[in-house]
Amino acid sequence: MSDKSKEYRAVVIACGRISGAHAHGYQSNNIPIVACADINQDAVNAFGERFGIPKERRYLDYNEMLDKERPEIVSVCSHHHLHAPMTIDSAKYKPLAIFCEKPIALSLGEADAMINACKESNTVLIIGHQRRFSPQYVCAYNALKDGAIGELVSMEAHGHPWTSLLVDGTHTIDLLRWYADDLPISWVFGQIDSRTHRSAWGSLVEDATISIFNFNNGIRTILTLGGANLTKDDGNAYFEPLWKGVEGSNYHHIILRGTEGQIEIDGDAPTPGRPWVRLIKNGAIKELELPKLPSAHAEIVRLLIESIETGSKHLLDASSARATLEVIIATFESSRKRSIIQLPIDIKENPLFEMINLGEI
Ligand SMILES: NC(=O)c1ccc[n+]([C@@H]2O[C@H](COP(=O)([O-])OP(=O)(O)OC[C@H]3O[C@@H](n4cnc5c(N)ncnc54)[C@H](O)[C@@H]3O)[C@@H](O)[C@H]2O)c1
Repeated sequence: MSDKSKEYRAVVIACGRISGAHAHGYQSNNIPIVACADINQDAVNAFGERFGIPKERRYLDYNEMLDKERPEIVSVCSHHHLHAPMTIDSAKYKPLAIFCEKPIALSLGEADAMINACKESNTVLIIGHQRRFSPQYVCAYNALKDGAIGELVSMEAHGHPWTSLLVDGTHTIDLLRWYADDLPISWVFGQIDSRTHRSAWGSLVEDATISIFNFNNGIRTILTLGGANLTKDDGNAYFEPLWKGVEGSNYHHIILRGTEGQIEIDGDAPTPGRPWVRLIKNGAIKELELPKLPSAHAEIVRLLIESIETGSKHLLDASSARATLEVIIATFESSRKRSIIQLPIDIKENPLFEMINLGEI
């Protein structure tokens, strides 16, 4: 591996749970993490201790850090509502790249402002949909592209009972779009239940979701998420989660159906006693072998450097995350309008937030 330590310096904004994965990605590529920022003194200190950042380079104000450090790479690891302002603020300092967490933003208006700010500053912007680099999802991708199930016809995906579009659905939709070669989506038909008005990672999220969407080559996709909130205390089961409890196998459980068979992925962890990724064809079930891969964040950062140096489009380019967000926004809009929503949409705000704020749901 070439020594990148003299060319690139990374900083991390928001030192919570996911920031460690970004840091490992930089370390794996010999890119020094020179500074970090968090409004929480304990968080910034813990991160600083863990990754060897001197006390004077642990900041409570990320703008001060950006101004003093002028880094080549910035990680934005804050809650959802801060992704847009922090990315736009970072772009003002013209870093070569920003690696922001998912979802890209809470609305398409915000996502466009982030993408435009980075275009103006000539900054590569990528979003943390790292499951495109995880062995089980790559295994299914490779088998699909090798023709193991013939032509892809439809996809089915299920999230766990506590999740929602902005939290985990963004990862699942991103994977489904990848399996369909990131083709444009022609329409979305969705329904949500959002009675509890709960929040997660800094934004309102729905309780239960169904989203059906159609790629422009005809591949039909159905996604279900959540439902647990609505079954928990009062005994009223409004929406039965397909799987009970939160376990790896129902984080992004995906079934790919083709003209000659199907591939099933047990999400983030295998169900005990079952192959993690399986090919079902001609009445037989075959376990598919997982490829040996570097860690997702190491590979993301390696490709980020390649994008900076060659101009190649990163697999996690912000334009892809925007397309994923468009499905999320269209699902909310479909629920509001009770109709199919044709894409592309020109909706700048988040219909879920509008519906809740207007007392419509
Ligand atoms: N890609 C993944 O698989 C994955 C996994 C977990 C979380 N995430 C995403 O990462 C993001 C962060 O999630 P988390 O679980 O690490 O959250 P967290 O709550 O563990 O950490 C968030 C940190 O942000 C800090 N913060 C808040 N306001 C700030 C400000 N103005 N300036 C600087 N720091 C500030 C908080 O003090 C906290 O330390 C979310 O968008 C989440 O969706 C992604």
